[in-house]
Amino acid sequence: MCGIVGYIGEKQAAPILLDGLSKLEYRGYDSAGIAVYDGEQIHLTKSKGRLKVLGELTHDGETMPGTLGIGHTRWATHGEPSDANAHPHMNRDKSIAVVHNGIIENYLKLKKRLIDKGYEFMSDTDTEVVAHLLDRYYDGNPLAAIIKVMHRMEGSYALGIVFKDHPDQLFAVRKDSPLIVGHTQGGNIIASDVPAVLKYTRDVYFMENEEVVCIRRDSLEFYNVDEEQIEKEPVHIDWDVDAAEKGGYEHFMLKEMYEQPKAITDTISPRIKGRDIVIEELGMTDEEIRQIGKIMIVACGSAYHAGVTGKYVLEGMAKIPVEVDLASEFRYRDPLLDEKTLVIIISQSGETADSLAALRESKERGAKVLGIVNVIGSSIAREADNVMYTWAGPEIAVATTKAYSCQLIALYLLAMKFAAARGTVTEKEMDAYIDDLKRIPDQVEMLLNNKNRIQKFANRYLAAIDVFFIGRGVDYAISLEGSLKLKEISYIHSEAYAAGELKHGTISLIEDGTLVVAVLTQEKLYKKMLSNMVEVRTRGAFVLAVTNEGNDEVERAADYVIYVPRTNSYFANSLAIVPLQLFGYYIAVGKGCDVDKPRNLAKSVTVE
Ligand code: M6R
Repeated sequence: MCGIVGYIGEKQAAPILLDGLSKLEYRGYDSAGIAVYDGEQIHLTKSKGRLKVLGELTHDGETMPGTLGIGHTRWATHGEPSDANAHPHMNRDKSIAVVHNGIIENYLKLKKRLIDKGYEFMSDTDTEVVAHLLDRYYDGNPLAAIIKVMHRMEGSYALGIVFKDHPDQLFAVRKDSPLIVGHTQGGNIIASDVPAVLKYTRDVYFMENEEVVCIRRDSLEFYNVDEEQIEKEPVHIDWDVDAAEKGGYEHFMLKEMYEQPKAITDTISPRIKGRDIVIEELGMTDEEIRQIGKIMIVACGSAYHAGVTGKYVLEGMAKIPVEVDLASEFRYRDPLLDEKTLVIIISQSGETADSLAALRESKERGAKVLGIVNVIGSSIAREADNVMYTWAGPEIAVATTKAYSCQLIALYLLAMKFAAARGTVTEKEMDAYIDDLKRIPDQVEMLLNNKNRIQKFANRYLAAIDVFFIGRGVDYAISLEGSLKLKEISYIHSEAYAAGELKHGTISLIEDGTLVVAVLTQEKLYKKMLSNMVEVRTRGAFVLAVTNEGNDEVERAADYVIYVPRTNSYFANSLAIVPLQLFGYYIAVGKGCDVDKPRNLAKSVTVE
């Protein structure tokens, strides 16, 4: 985790570093720091707590003059959040400063050797090892020292490095942690992610594994680990600058929920041509699609929940067997894959460590890998055999909303494409699916416009201790996501259950007033769901139902009903999720929680 930035140019570095870090706080926010070189000394300010504290300490950067610097916002892995463990870290004579995102896996071994050689450590971090190793290998040539250190380190890293001896150079390197370089008029900037540089440039270089960049005020030189200079092409980023800012909304999460209609439209539009689904980036002929023997969907968190929906839709429409796995389990469980297996890795960030490892494992085992990814040029996007982008734009709030919604859409599109190639749906059915798909953005918009009703209901449940979400079929999949949305931002314990499973144990937790959120959008499962709702209600539960318009009979089994527009049974999750997102959001707001940056979490989970 963690976010890094660096700047070298004609302007003052500190305000640019603080601004860049503010766009990366989603990557971690338990401490922050900057190091700025004024031509004589490398000055360091760092502190436990949010970036705001660092801004106050430095008077928004004014107290740290200099046009070269690096900055860091931390999500602790080694060592508690503290001033001492905050980055940057420096070598003993304060002539080298380092910021790091990732984990140096062999740091204990390296640390022991460095201590034996007389180095003293000021922090508990793995990163400090890098500063001392650079000190040990530096003999006037920074590039050679960095490459030597790279050979000694195991694990993942994106590093920004400043050497006192080289006031005109900023160095950066990456392995398995993201890093981009932006070229601007009068200066250059490095960052862990695009939103940090968008204000200054749209032309960015995506660093590949084991590449080093030497950045001067007006030039960039890229090297491989053999110290050979390499050529790289910039990628133009089309994102709106506003898209990475709050734009008048109270929270990024709310803004991102409101961006769902557009994000969904953007994800659908390029893939519907007339009455056909065209996914050029799939890289598979119809014959190859017919040869698929099994699909394995692998992901973490909400992306995994999208995958659970995907299983129902792909199996139902395209009649291909689908397994869904948590990436952290998949990578260590000796999965059975062959060349007829299509592995689909779903990830918003494209940097989730377990998902990336699962991707590599799958490729090694001979499977074809398709990435469904939101962040352009991210590791998963680059390493997958093919990538289908969700066009959600930058997502800043830790709790995903619009990226999740676009993942669902991408899975529907795939299912439709596969069904067409395999002849498992009729033309008439396909036409109806296409029409339903095109209607989703407006239906989502309508649900968002009804937010007041959900807000009112949420305010009644601010003191809830336990909440249960139940559903069957795809409604079970959406229950998983609804439950995660609530708990991750409001800190209210909640669990999702397949409704038929409750009576096998969990129903004993239902008592007077327990809130049960029942999702029932599946026509063929209504009756079963109604029975499950009655079961919990007779044991004292307060039942909030989310169901399709027109299902008035649900009111007899529920205490409060939220209606969603009708669509086909496969796409229902795209609509049912909206009230559940709003419910989690308004509970968290009502409780005064830090909605966009919930405790203990980070947006991009680059540790396993
Ligand atoms: O970037 P990814 O989609 O790979 O991230 C996966 C999960 O870490 C992510 O969905 C997480 O569960 C979010 N906090 C959910 O809101």
